[in-house]
Amino acid sequence: MKVLVTGGTGFTGSHTAAELMTAGHDVRVMVRDLAKVQRVFEPLGAVPTDIVLGDVTDEGAVDAALTGCDGVVHTAALVDVSRAHGRQVETTNTRGTELVIGGAVARGMPAIVYVSSTSVFLRPGGPVMTPSSPLADGRSTYARSKVHAERFVRRLQDDGAPICTTYPAAISGPDDPGPSVVNAGLVSFLSGLFVITSGGLQIVDVRDLAALHRVLLDASPAPRRYAAASDMLSWQQIYDVCSALTGTHPRQVRLPGAVLRGAGTLGDVVKRLRDFDFPMTREAMETSTRWPGVDAGATTRDLGVHFRAPADTLRDTLIGLYTAGHLTAAQVGRLAGEAVPP
Ligand SMILES: NC(=O)c1ccc[n+]([C@@H]2O[C@H](COP(=O)([O-])OP(=O)(O)OC[C@H]3O[C@@H](n4cnc5c(N)ncnc54)[C@H](OP(=O)(O)O)[C@@H]3O)[C@@H](O)[C@H]2O)c1
Repeated sequence: MKVLVTGGTGFTGSHTAAELMTAGHDVRVMVRDLAKVQRVFEPLGAVPTDIVLGDVTDEGAVDAALTGCDGVVHTAALVDVSRAHGRQVETTNTRGTELVIGGAVARGMPAIVYVSSTSVFLRPGGPVMTPSSPLADGRSTYARSKVHAERFVRRLQDDGAPICTTYPAAISGPDDPGPSVVNAGLVSFLSGLFVITSGGLQIVDVRDLAALHRVLLDASPAPRRYAAASDMLSWQQIYDVCSALTGTHPRQVRLPGAVLRGAGTLGDVVKRLRDFDFPMTREAMETSTRWPGVDAGATTRDLGVHFRAPADTLRDTLIGLYTAGHLTAAQVGRLAGEAVPP
Protein backbone atom coordinates (compact mmCIF):
# COMPACT_ATOMS: atom_id res chain seq x y z
CA MET A 1 0.00 0.00 0.00
CA LYS A 2 1.21 3.52 -0.75
CA VAL A 3 1.13 5.32 2.62
CA LEU A 4 1.81 8.92 3.55
CA VAL A 5 3.34 9.49 6.99
CA THR A 6 3.21 13.12 8.16
CA GLY A 7 5.75 14.26 10.75
CA GLY A 8 8.16 11.82 9.09
CA THR A 9 11.23 13.19 10.86
CA GLY A 10 9.53 13.20 14.28
CA PHE A 11 9.88 10.52 16.95
CA THR A 12 6.60 8.70 16.26
CA GLY A 13 6.57 9.47 12.54
CA SER A 14 10.05 8.09 11.84
CA HIS A 15 9.46 4.85 13.78
CA THR A 16 6.06 4.42 12.13
CA ALA A 17 7.47 5.03 8.64
CA ALA A 18 10.34 2.58 9.27
CA GLU A 19 7.92 -0.06 10.61
CA LEU A 20 5.74 0.31 7.51
CA MET A 21 8.71 0.15 5.12
CA THR A 22 10.02 -2.98 6.84
CA ALA A 23 6.54 -4.54 6.48
CA GLY A 24 6.69 -3.90 2.72
CA HIS A 25 4.57 -0.77 2.40
CA ASP A 26 5.56 1.92 -0.09
CA VAL A 27 6.06 4.91 2.21
CA ARG A 28 6.04 8.62 1.44
CA VAL A 29 7.05 10.94 4.24
CA MET A 30 6.03 14.56 4.60
CA VAL A 31 8.77 16.57 6.30
CA ARG A 32 9.76 20.20 6.93
CA ASP A 33 13.51 19.69 6.64
CA LEU A 34 15.03 17.48 3.93
CA ALA A 35 18.45 17.50 5.59
CA LYS A 36 16.99 15.77 8.66
CA VAL A 37 15.77 12.69 6.78
CA GLN A 38 19.08 10.81 6.43
CA ARG A 39 20.14 11.50 10.03
CA VAL A 40 16.82 10.38 11.49
CA PHE A 41 16.25 7.26 9.41
CA GLU A 42 19.76 5.80 9.13
CA PRO A 43 19.71 4.33 12.68
CA LEU A 44 16.31 2.79 11.93
CA GLY A 45 17.72 0.81 9.01
CA ALA A 46 15.20 2.02 6.41
CA VAL A 47 15.53 5.37 4.65
CA PRO A 48 12.51 6.61 2.65
CA THR A 49 13.12 7.87 -0.86
CA ASP A 50 9.68 9.34 -1.53
CA ILE A 51 9.85 12.60 0.39
CA VAL A 52 7.47 15.54 0.19
CA LEU A 53 8.62 18.82 1.67
CA GLY A 54 5.91 20.95 3.24
CA ASP A 55 3.88 22.22 6.11
CA VAL A 56 0.70 20.43 7.19
CA THR A 57 -1.12 23.77 7.36
CA ASP A 58 -0.41 24.42 3.66
CA GLU A 59 -3.38 23.11 1.67
CA GLY A 60 -1.44 22.80 -1.58
CA ALA A 61 1.43 20.93 0.06
CA VAL A 62 -0.94 18.52 1.82
CA ASP A 63 -2.86 17.94 -1.40
CA ALA A 64 0.37 17.09 -3.24
CA ALA A 65 1.46 14.79 -0.41
CA LEU A 66 -1.85 12.87 -0.39
CA THR A 67 -1.98 12.48 -4.18
CA GLY A 68 -1.41 8.87 -5.21
CA CYS A 69 -1.62 7.46 -1.68
CA ASP A 70 -3.99 4.73 -0.47
CA GLY A 71 -3.43 5.44 3.20
CA VAL A 72 -2.10 7.98 5.66
CA VAL A 73 -0.74 8.08 9.20
CA HIS A 74 -1.01 11.62 10.56
CA THR A 75 1.56 12.03 13.33
CA ALA A 76 2.63 15.65 12.72
CA ALA A 77 1.85 18.04 15.57
CA LEU A 78 3.51 20.68 17.67
CA VAL A 79 4.02 19.22 21.14
CA ASP A 80 4.78 22.49 22.92
CA VAL A 81 3.87 23.73 26.38
CA SER A 82 5.01 27.34 25.89
CA ARG A 83 2.29 29.95 25.58
CA ALA A 84 4.61 31.82 23.21
CA HIS A 85 3.83 29.34 20.46
CA GLY A 86 0.15 29.08 21.35
CA ARG A 87 -1.31 30.17 18.03
CA GLN A 88 1.15 28.04 16.07
CA VAL A 89 0.30 25.00 18.23
CA GLU A 90 -3.43 25.48 17.68
CA THR A 91 -3.06 26.00 13.92
CA THR A 92 -0.65 23.12 13.36
CA ASN A 93 -2.65 20.66 15.38
CA THR A 94 -6.17 21.58 14.27
CA ARG A 95 -5.79 23.00 10.75
CA GLY A 96 -3.15 20.39 9.97
CA THR A 97 -5.54 17.62 11.02
CA GLU A 98 -8.43 19.12 9.06
CA LEU A 99 -6.30 19.20 5.92
CA VAL A 100 -4.59 15.81 6.27
CA ILE A 101 -7.41 13.70 7.72
CA GLY A 102 -10.17 15.68 6.00
CA GLY A 103 -8.26 15.41 2.69
CA ALA A 104 -7.76 11.66 3.07
CA VAL A 105 -11.48 11.14 3.80
CA ALA A 106 -12.50 13.34 0.86
CA ARG A 107 -10.35 11.15 -1.41
CA GLY A 108 -12.05 8.01 -0.09
CA MET A 109 -8.85 6.51 1.32
CA PRO A 110 -9.54 3.15 2.98
CA ALA A 111 -6.70 3.30 5.52
CA ILE A 112 -6.43 6.38 7.72
CA VAL A 113 -4.68 6.58 11.09
CA TYR A 114 -4.80 9.69 13.25
CA VAL A 115 -2.49 10.07 16.27
CA SER A 116 -4.43 11.77 19.04
CA SER A 117 -3.35 11.82 22.71
CA THR A 118 -4.55 10.62 26.09
CA SER A 119 -4.53 14.33 27.01
CA VAL A 120 -7.93 14.64 25.29
CA PHE A 121 -9.46 12.61 28.17
CA LEU A 122 -7.31 13.89 30.99
CA ARG A 123 -9.01 14.69 34.29
CA PRO A 124 -6.18 14.70 36.83
CA GLY A 125 -7.03 12.41 39.71
CA GLY A 126 -10.10 11.15 37.82
CA PRO A 127 -11.04 7.62 36.75
CA VAL A 128 -8.76 5.44 34.60
CA MET A 129 -9.00 6.59 30.97
CA THR A 130 -10.09 4.45 28.02
CA PRO A 131 -10.95 5.41 24.42
CA SER A 132 -14.61 5.55 25.57
CA SER A 133 -13.93 8.18 28.24
CA PRO A 134 -15.64 11.56 27.77
CA LEU A 135 -13.50 14.27 26.20
CA ALA A 136 -12.02 16.82 28.60
CA ASP A 137 -11.76 20.56 27.89
CA GLY A 138 -7.96 20.66 27.92
CA ARG A 139 -6.24 23.26 30.10
CA SER A 140 -3.15 24.01 27.99
CA THR A 141 -3.12 25.27 24.43
CA TYR A 142 -1.62 21.95 23.36
CA ALA A 143 -4.31 19.86 25.11
CA ARG A 144 -7.06 22.12 23.76
CA SER A 145 -5.67 21.90 20.22
CA LYS A 146 -5.70 18.09 20.42
CA VAL A 147 -9.31 18.18 21.71
CA HIS A 148 -10.34 20.46 18.82
CA ALA A 149 -8.67 18.12 16.31
CA GLU A 150 -10.26 15.13 18.05
CA ARG A 151 -13.74 16.64 17.71
CA PHE A 152 -13.14 17.18 13.98
CA VAL A 153 -11.99 13.57 13.52
CA ARG A 154 -14.93 12.23 15.57
CA ARG A 155 -17.44 14.06 13.38
CA LEU A 156 -15.97 12.26 10.36
CA GLN A 157 -15.95 8.92 12.21
CA ASP A 158 -19.60 9.44 13.18
CA ASP A 159 -20.35 9.74 9.45
CA GLY A 160 -18.63 6.38 8.92
CA ALA A 161 -15.18 7.53 7.74
CA PRO A 162 -12.69 4.65 8.28
CA ILE A 163 -10.38 6.62 10.57
CA CYS A 164 -8.46 4.75 13.26
CA THR A 165 -7.42 6.94 16.17
CA THR A 166 -4.60 6.09 18.56
CA TYR A 167 -4.26 7.58 22.04
CA PRO A 168 -0.63 7.27 23.16
CA ALA A 169 0.43 7.77 26.77
CA ALA A 170 3.92 9.28 27.30
CA ILE A 171 6.00 8.24 24.28
CA SER A 172 9.50 6.98 25.03
CA GLY A 173 12.07 4.71 23.42
CA PRO A 174 15.38 4.76 21.55
CA ASP A 175 16.35 6.54 18.31
CA ASP A 176 14.64 9.79 19.22
CA PRO A 177 15.43 12.66 16.83
CA GLY A 178 14.61 15.13 19.64
CA PRO A 179 14.86 14.27 22.45
CA SER A 180 11.12 14.68 22.54
CA VAL A 181 9.21 15.72 25.63
CA VAL A 182 9.30 12.51 27.72
CA ASN A 183 12.90 11.61 26.93
CA ALA A 184 13.95 15.19 27.63
CA GLY A 185 12.40 14.76 31.09
CA LEU A 186 14.46 11.61 31.65
CA VAL A 187 17.60 13.50 30.63
CA SER A 188 16.93 16.24 33.15
CA PHE A 189 16.20 13.67 35.90
CA LEU A 190 19.42 11.73 35.29
CA SER A 191 21.67 14.70 34.63
CA GLY A 192 20.17 17.05 37.23
CA LEU A 193 17.72 16.20 39.94
CA PHE A 194 15.23 13.30 40.05
CA VAL A 195 11.95 14.58 41.47
CA ILE A 196 9.98 11.92 43.34
CA THR A 197 6.40 12.92 43.96
CA SER A 198 2.87 11.52 43.93
CA GLY A 199 1.40 10.01 40.76
CA GLY A 200 3.68 8.45 38.21
CA LEU A 201 4.49 7.93 34.56
CA GLN A 202 2.83 5.67 32.04
CA ILE A 203 4.94 5.26 28.95
CA VAL A 204 4.38 3.63 25.61
CA ASP A 205 7.36 2.41 23.66
CA VAL A 206 7.56 4.21 20.32
CA ARG A 207 8.25 0.87 18.61
CA ASP A 208 5.04 -0.64 19.99
CA LEU A 209 3.13 2.46 18.92
CA ALA A 210 4.57 2.08 15.41
CA ALA A 211 3.46 -1.57 15.38
CA LEU A 212 -0.05 -0.49 16.40
CA HIS A 213 -0.14 1.95 13.48
CA ARG A 214 0.91 -0.81 11.06
CA VAL A 215 -1.77 -3.19 12.37
CA LEU A 216 -4.46 -0.51 12.10
CA LEU A 217 -3.45 0.38 8.53
CA ASP A 218 -3.79 -3.27 7.56
CA ALA A 219 -7.14 -3.75 9.37
CA SER A 220 -10.43 -3.75 7.49
CA PRO A 221 -11.65 -0.16 6.96
CA ALA A 222 -13.79 1.05 9.90
CA PRO A 223 -13.72 3.82 12.48
CA ARG A 224 -11.75 2.54 15.50
CA ARG A 225 -10.17 3.97 18.67
CA TYR A 226 -7.29 2.41 20.59
CA ALA A 227 -5.15 3.47 23.53
CA ALA A 228 -1.40 2.80 23.55
CA ALA A 229 0.22 2.45 26.97
CA SER A 230 2.31 0.14 29.10
CA ASP A 231 1.95 -0.35 32.85
CA MET A 232 1.91 2.72 35.08
CA LEU A 233 4.95 3.17 37.35
CA SER A 234 5.14 5.48 40.35
CA TRP A 235 7.98 8.05 40.27
CA GLN A 236 9.72 6.01 42.96
CA GLN A 237 9.50 2.93 40.72
CA ILE A 238 10.85 4.90 37.75
CA TYR A 239 13.76 6.01 39.93
CA ASP A 240 14.37 2.45 41.14
CA VAL A 241 14.29 1.03 37.60
CA CYS A 242 16.74 3.68 36.33
CA SER A 243 19.00 3.10 39.32
CA ALA A 244 18.95 -0.69 38.86
CA LEU A 245 19.58 -0.43 35.10
CA THR A 246 22.49 1.98 35.42
CA GLY A 247 23.89 0.88 38.78
CA THR A 248 23.95 4.57 39.77
CA HIS A 249 22.04 6.61 42.33
CA PRO A 250 20.92 9.85 40.65
CA ARG A 251 20.43 12.82 42.98
CA GLN A 252 16.82 12.88 44.13
CA VAL A 253 14.41 15.16 45.93
CA ARG A 254 11.02 14.25 47.39
CA LEU A 255 8.29 16.85 46.90
CA PRO A 256 4.58 16.58 47.69
CA GLY A 257 2.35 16.81 44.62
CA ALA A 258 0.60 19.86 46.07
CA VAL A 259 3.91 21.78 46.14
CA LEU A 260 4.58 21.03 42.48
CA ARG A 261 1.03 21.94 41.50
CA GLY A 262 1.43 25.23 43.36
CA ALA A 263 4.70 25.85 41.52
CA GLY A 264 2.85 25.12 38.26
CA THR A 265 0.24 27.75 39.07
CA LEU A 266 3.04 30.22 39.80
CA GLY A 267 4.67 29.26 36.50
CA ASP A 268 1.40 30.05 34.67
CA VAL A 269 1.23 33.49 36.30
CA VAL A 270 4.85 34.28 35.44
CA LYS A 271 4.32 33.11 31.87
CA ARG A 272 1.37 35.47 31.52
CA LEU A 273 3.69 38.35 32.41
CA ARG A 274 6.70 37.18 30.43
CA ASP A 275 6.50 34.05 28.33
CA PHE A 276 9.38 31.61 28.15
CA ASP A 277 10.02 27.96 27.31
CA PHE A 278 9.85 26.17 30.64
CA PRO A 279 7.66 23.15 31.36
CA MET A 280 6.51 24.32 34.83
CA THR A 281 2.81 24.75 34.09
CA ARG A 282 -0.17 23.86 36.27
CA GLU A 283 -1.36 21.35 33.70
CA ALA A 284 2.05 19.67 33.43
CA MET A 285 2.25 19.39 37.21
CA GLU A 286 -1.34 18.09 37.46
CA THR A 287 -0.47 15.48 34.83
CA SER A 288 2.76 14.46 36.59
CA THR A 289 1.34 14.25 40.09
CA ARG A 290 -2.25 13.07 39.50
CA TRP A 291 -2.06 10.88 36.38
CA PRO A 292 -5.22 8.72 36.47
CA GLY A 293 -3.82 5.97 34.26
CA VAL A 294 -4.98 4.73 30.86
CA ASP A 295 -6.18 1.21 30.12
CA ALA A 296 -4.87 -0.14 26.81
CA GLY A 297 -6.02 -3.71 27.47
CA ALA A 298 -8.50 -3.64 24.56
CA THR A 299 -5.66 -2.86 22.12
CA THR A 300 -3.91 -6.09 23.07
CA ARG A 301 -7.13 -8.15 23.22
CA ASP A 302 -8.59 -6.92 19.90
CA LEU A 303 -5.47 -6.42 17.81
CA GLY A 304 -2.80 -8.60 19.44
CA VAL A 305 -0.53 -5.57 19.89
CA HIS A 306 1.52 -5.94 23.08
CA PHE A 307 3.18 -3.15 25.05
CA ARG A 308 6.58 -4.07 26.40
CA ALA A 309 7.50 -3.64 30.06
CA PRO A 310 8.55 -0.07 30.98
CA ALA A 311 11.94 -1.32 32.22
CA ASP A 312 12.74 -2.66 28.74
CA THR A 313 11.82 0.67 27.16
CA LEU A 314 13.78 2.65 29.76
CA ARG A 315 16.87 0.48 29.21
CA ASP A 316 16.88 1.06 25.43
CA THR A 317 15.97 4.72 25.87
CA LEU A 318 18.85 5.45 28.24
CA ILE A 319 21.31 3.68 25.93
CA GLY A 320 19.91 5.72 23.02
CA LEU A 321 20.19 8.99 24.93
CA TYR A 322 23.80 8.14 25.81
CA THR A 323 24.66 7.18 22.23
CA ALA A 324 23.18 10.47 20.99
CA GLY A 325 25.25 12.44 23.51
CA HIS A 326 22.38 13.60 25.73
CA LEU A 327 23.64 11.62 28.75
CA THR A 328 27.20 10.90 29.83
CA ALA A 329 28.80 7.52 30.55
CA ALA A 330 28.74 8.39 34.26
CA GLN A 331 25.01 9.09 34.12
CA VAL A 332 24.07 5.81 32.39
CA GLY A 333 26.62 3.79 34.41
CA ARG A 334 26.83 0.17 33.36
CA LEU A 335 24.54 0.74 30.35
CA ALA A 336 27.40 2.63 28.64
CA GLY A 337 29.09 -0.73 28.12
CA GLU A 338 26.03 -2.02 26.26
CA ALA A 339 25.82 0.88 23.81
CA VAL A 340 26.86 0.28 20.21
CA PRO A 341 29.38 3.01 19.24
CA PRO A 342 27.76 5.49 16.82
N1 LIG B 1 5.32 12.87 22.88
C1 LIG B 1 4.35 12.33 23.60
O1 LIG B 1 4.57 11.86 24.72
C2 LIG B 1 2.95 12.25 23.02
C3 LIG B 1 1.94 11.69 23.81
C4 LIG B 1 0.67 11.56 23.27
C5 LIG B 1 0.41 11.95 21.96
N2 LIG B 1 1.42 12.50 21.22
C6 LIG B 1 1.12 12.84 19.81
O2 LIG B 1 1.93 11.99 19.02
C7 LIG B 1 2.25 12.65 17.80
C8 LIG B 1 3.74 12.57 17.57
O3 LIG B 1 4.40 13.16 18.67
P1 LIG B 1 5.99 13.03 18.84
O4 LIG B 1 6.28 13.00 20.28
O5 LIG B 1 6.49 11.96 17.95
O6 LIG B 1 6.40 14.47 18.31
P2 LIG B 1 7.70 14.98 17.54
O7 LIG B 1 8.84 14.06 17.69
O8 LIG B 1 7.85 16.40 17.96
O9 LIG B 1 7.23 14.92 16.02
C9 LIG B 1 6.30 15.83 15.50
C10 LIG B 1 6.53 15.95 14.02
O10 LIG B 1 5.60 16.90 13.49
C11 LIG B 1 6.30 17.72 12.58
N3 LIG B 1 5.65 19.02 12.46
C12 LIG B 1 5.43 19.93 13.42
N4 LIG B 1 4.79 21.00 12.91
C13 LIG B 1 4.63 20.75 11.59
C14 LIG B 1 4.04 21.47 10.51
N5 LIG B 1 3.48 22.68 10.70
N6 LIG B 1 4.06 20.91 9.29
C15 LIG B 1 4.62 19.70 9.08
N7 LIG B 1 5.17 18.96 10.06
C16 LIG B 1 5.17 19.49 11.30
C17 LIG B 1 7.70 17.84 13.16
O11 LIG B 1 8.61 18.24 12.14
P3 LIG B 1 10.19 18.43 12.41
O12 LIG B 1 10.76 17.03 12.40
O13 LIG B 1 10.64 19.27 11.29
O14 LIG B 1 10.31 19.09 13.75
C18 LIG B 1 7.94 16.43 13.64
O15 LIG B 1 8.43 15.63 12.60
C19 LIG B 1 1.70 14.06 17.91
O16 LIG B 1 0.46 14.09 17.23
C20 LIG B 1 1.48 14.25 19.40
O17 LIG B 1 0.44 15.16 19.65
C21 LIG B 1 2.68 12.66 21.72
